Amino acid sequence: MLPSRRLPVLAGGMARTGRLDVGALPGPLRDLRIFAGLVRERGLRHTGRVCALAVRGRWMAASDRRREAAFGISSDGAVELRELTIDSENRALGFPYVPSPGLLVDTLLGSLDEDLSRFCFVDFGSGKGRVLLVAAHHPFREVVGVEFSPELHEIASSNIRSYTSTARRCRNVRSVCADATSFPIPERPRVLYFNNPFAERVFARVLANIRAAHERAPHQSYVLYQQLAGDLEADHTDNIASLQRADFLRERQVRFPSRRARFLLGSYELRIFESVG
Ligand SMILES: C[S@@+](CC[C@H](N)C(=O)[O-])C[C@H]1O[C@@H](n2cnc3c(N)ncnc32)[C@H](O)[C@@H]1O
Repeated sequence: MLPSRRLPVLAGGMARTGRLDVGALPGPLRDLRIFAGLVRERGLRHTGRVCALAVRGRWMAASDRRREAAFGISSDGAVELRELTIDSENRALGFPYVPSPGLLVDTLLGSLDEDLSRFCFVDFGSGKGRVLLVAAHHPFREVVGVEFSPELHEIASSNIRSYTSTARRCRNVRSVCADATSFPIPERPRVLYFNNPFAERVFARVLANIRAAHERAPHQSYVLYQQLAGDLEADHTDNIASLQRADFLRERQVRFPSRRARFLLGSYELRIFESVG
């Protein structure tokens, strides 16, 4: 049995962290073997999509690495949850750490057309804090990450401390070590971000918390969700479908800032939902 449900799309997963070729492979022959194996097992079309993801992923990862390296930090590198000490009943339903491309986060936030200084931002399953650093470039009142692995939370906290970029427009940034289901939804306008962090059972509990907060006080909410498109995502869930069924939310269009961004993010499913009423 494979150690992770993400491994069937090995190349895709590695591409998301910019490690498709040289990082994990000793030489071009190995690349070729993986490529040939993929064509045999999954066909040309799927292999083409994996390669497109790999190339785009590497491009975006390089730019994320550059931004962070200037401050001696890194949120790069996928981590399987079995390598971590996690004390949560939801451990088996969580998905590995794979960071979001910064461009993706900026594209979703840029689509909101809001004065973000009224909003707080929460990343559910924030890992090493990549998304928190990118969100801090926007003028949020507060940026918070919720991560259930103490090891990843420590890395995120250290990354936040060291990321002293003058491009930061929010100074109030923190990582909280907790299970996403126990994190209280902030009682103020909020942008809630999910990079496909966990399976449906856990997501349903978080969505119930969002609904309860909305019913207590209907502050404006945005829910941003991203995952790899179609069969590129081995941990593909129905979480987007639950958001579409939620009667207190309606879907909004994602606006790409450029054709280049649309191309680079072409392997992702990006969704924005906004609260109604
Ligand atoms: C796909 S990664 C996303 C990382 C980060 N949000 C990003 O986009 O760069 C999913 C993260 O969710 C975390 N996670 C999974 N289940 C969780 C839960 N129930 N509570 C808190 N964190 C969880 C994992 O440890 C992992 O770091």
